[in-house]
Amino acid sequence: MNMPTNKRLLSGITPSGDGSLHIGNYLGAVRQFIELAKSNETYLMVADLHGLTTIQDKSQLQHNIETLVLNELALLKGFMTVEQFDRIIFFRQSDVLMHTECQSIINNVTPLGLLKRAHAYKDKLQKEVEEDDINVGLFSYPMLMAADILLYQADLVPVGKDQKQHIEITRDIAGHFNKIYKKNVFKLPEAFIPEEVAVVLGTDGQRKMSKSLGNVISMFESEDVIRKQVMGTFTDPTRKHATDPGHIEGNMVFTYLDFFGDPVKVAALKGQYKEGKVSDVEVKEYLFDSLMAYFGAARKAYDELKSNPQLVRDILARGQERALSIAIQTMTQVRNAIGVTTQYSFFDYPKPASGKTISIDEFARVELRVGKVLEATNKEGSEKLIRLVVDVGEEKPRTIFTGVRGFGYTSEDFSGKQFFFITNLAPRKMMNEESQGMILAVDGADTKPQFVSAEGMPVGAKIR
Ligand code: TYM
Repeated sequence: MNMPTNKRLLSGITPSGDGSLHIGNYLGAVRQFIELAKSNETYLMVADLHGLTTIQDKSQLQHNIETLVLNELALLKGFMTVEQFDRIIFFRQSDVLMHTECQSIINNVTPLGLLKRAHAYKDKLQKEVEEDDINVGLFSYPMLMAADILLYQADLVPVGKDQKQHIEITRDIAGHFNKIYKKNVFKLPEAFIPEEVAVVLGTDGQRKMSKSLGNVISMFESEDVIRKQVMGTFTDPTRKHATDPGHIEGNMVFTYLDFFGDPVKVAALKGQYKEGKVSDVEVKEYLFDSLMAYFGAARKAYDELKSNPQLVRDILARGQERALSIAIQTMTQVRNAIGVTTQYSFFDYPKPASGKTISIDEFARVELRVGKVLEATNKEGSEKLIRLVVDVGEEKPRTIFTGVRGFGYTSEDFSGKQFFFITNLAPRKMMNEESQGMILAVDGADTKPQFVSAEGMPVGAKIR
């Protein structure tokens, strides 16, 4: 699988179970995340609000959140340099209020059927749970997850296969929103799921590794607990004695060793196992040792973090600040797109200094036309006036005077050129001749009038 670079990535983990992570989470999600974080902009969040669907006991939730924070930070610190770690934006979902705001807005562009097809909800129903026993939080879980991802305009979401549908729902919602509001406010994210770890099986060798199934191998438990988990791992049920030839396929100890063992040593062990030359316990001991070595630095980081709560608080505060700055930007765009803005149409604009304003209706009565100057000459006996003979699209050209010679303009500045003219003024006498309109000028910085060119426009065209 090609590793993307220079993208924005977001992923999250729910503090479910007891909040601790297992090697399924690591292989399925965190490992990819760590690799990707080395050459992409990455956001990793503790999805504590998602935990509320199942954990409704205050101290349990707090315990889980703390455990998950420590687990995640320990993995990041254990497998990254300090500089790499510092670049990751690690935060708690509930620390950025916009997640729930965004969820509440995108609710309105999401078809009910889309959520009814979501696996988590359908699975629950199939377990013959009554609808009344399913909370709306579980039902709208994909909405909150969509908000998590869309808020940060993530390009990629590294997750295990069980989350694939959630990313598809997120894309659908983003597409609906952009279409309804005719603006590409949300980026459509893609899932990043390497095939070989899409689903990591549990120690029973049957089902996805999952806390709730009790088939996990932990990373931060005591050595005793982890040894027990390893010793209980499914191997080859056809093998009764260590001298029987054994099978590698479907043997979970070797599956895990492929990730965590030394490849040369693992290849040798596989050969011995097939020939009945090594016992299950010996292979399991090697898996245990390999896990301890592999996660050694992370386990050390875990202990350090646990004894330094201020450091953890500082990391979270920094993450919150950085996440907020992006979430605010997105929500400003969202609010503008949907019309929840502070740009009121009855806004009181400052009045011009003269204190006098004209209404739009009054202004609309001014008739402006494109005119072509057929002839420009100085008015005899005047120091200011230039006489323009102007075609404004009528049967006969009009005579229009402009008094701008004092500003340095000459008749050549007008001759043969096109400008805008006001054509519905009462004629005005100018030194015994009638001016039948007025050329449009605007004040320049030095108050020298500037004429607005209408070159290339149809002569006689009216301005609306
Ligand atoms: P969660 O907490 O259930 O799992 C965290 C990550 O671990 C992956 N995973 C596995 N991958 C392979 N094999 C396994 N046995 C295995 N068990 C778990 C999951 O696929 C996941 O990537 N809804 C999410 C959390 C979330 C989120 C988000 C993720 C909330 N908002 C935004 C990404 C983006 C969840 O409950 O994952």
